[in-house]
Amino acid sequence: MRARAQPNIALVKYWGKRDTKLNLPAVGSISITLADLYTDMDVEFDASLDVDVLTVNGDRDERMLPRLSASLDAMLGADRMRARIDSDANFPIAAGLASSASAFAALVVAANAAAGLGHDRQSLARHAGHASGSAARSLYGGFVELSNNDDHIDVKCLLQAEAWPLDVVVAITRAGPKPVGSGDAMEISRRTSPFYQRWVDAQDDDLAVAREAIATRDFGALAGVAEHNCLKMHSVMWASRPPMMYWNQATLNCLETVRDLQRQGTDVFFTIDAGPQVKAVCAPGHADVVRNALAATDGVVDLRVTGLGNGARLVGDE
Ligand code: PMV
Repeated sequence: MRARAQPNIALVKYWGKRDTKLNLPAVGSISITLADLYTDMDVEFDASLDVDVLTVNGDRDERMLPRLSASLDAMLGADRMRARIDSDANFPIAAGLASSASAFAALVVAANAAAGLGHDRQSLARHAGHASGSAARSLYGGFVELSNNDDHIDVKCLLQAEAWPLDVVVAITRAGPKPVGSGDAMEISRRTSPFYQRWVDAQDDDLAVAREAIATRDFGALAGVAEHNCLKMHSVMWASRPPMMYWNQATLNCLETVRDLQRQGTDVFFTIDAGPQVKAVCAPGHADVVRNALAATDGVVDLRVTGLGNGARLVGDE
């Protein structure tokens, strides 16, 4: 069974876990699901296999395999049939482009169908979130909120993609794996950053502002809260011990480009995750000028432009 899922970009971000065993986030988050970057995941259970076998973009991969196997164990039990898993992504993986979100969202949808489990979307979101917190959001399309409850998460679509067709220009400043994976980095922040608790405490206020901005399609309000929330998350990282700095010189150059565009009246704002890439979110009709300006920015090695898209689904269900 083959499923497709797109990465999502958080506008109000998840950073920190409240339960590492269950992988429950310390804060809620709000994201947008992208349209044109995707991971296709094919899962076939095969009684002749003794171990799971994974290929990523056609090559055998042992690095991602334990996390994917653990996710299948959590869904089906450890005594399940082993699986052949083929993953294909049309964008760089493990480079701050949320490739784990699209991978785990696609995995749970494909495995659910291959094993005939019959889980609904909410339950699949919880399974995906168990493997990668942000992956839960890629089960849904458009604007998505993940809320944090006592012993579980709830994920829902706040607004469909078509209702407010924003574009995202992704400026890739360096393709390559990140220095510290987000899971470990969050734990370092929780244990050592003097700003961590303040970050957690202020999150509900940011979520409320973003929710309202999305409901009223208020681009300026969404821009304000998203940039603030992003810079706060990175401040938590920088003040951790050891400090975690995912930015490079080109990341800063991109921020300057976005500031220049804003001064000229372009409706755009930036957000950055655990990597050096800059995602510039654009109001409808503003993506071309943003794309051109970021393409001309020093250190940008590649660009992707995408609208907002749908949640994870079986290929053939589109
Ligand atoms: O889901 P993870 O463990 O890859 O963590 C994602 C963390 C951020 O991308 C930095 C923020 C977010 O909400 O997506």
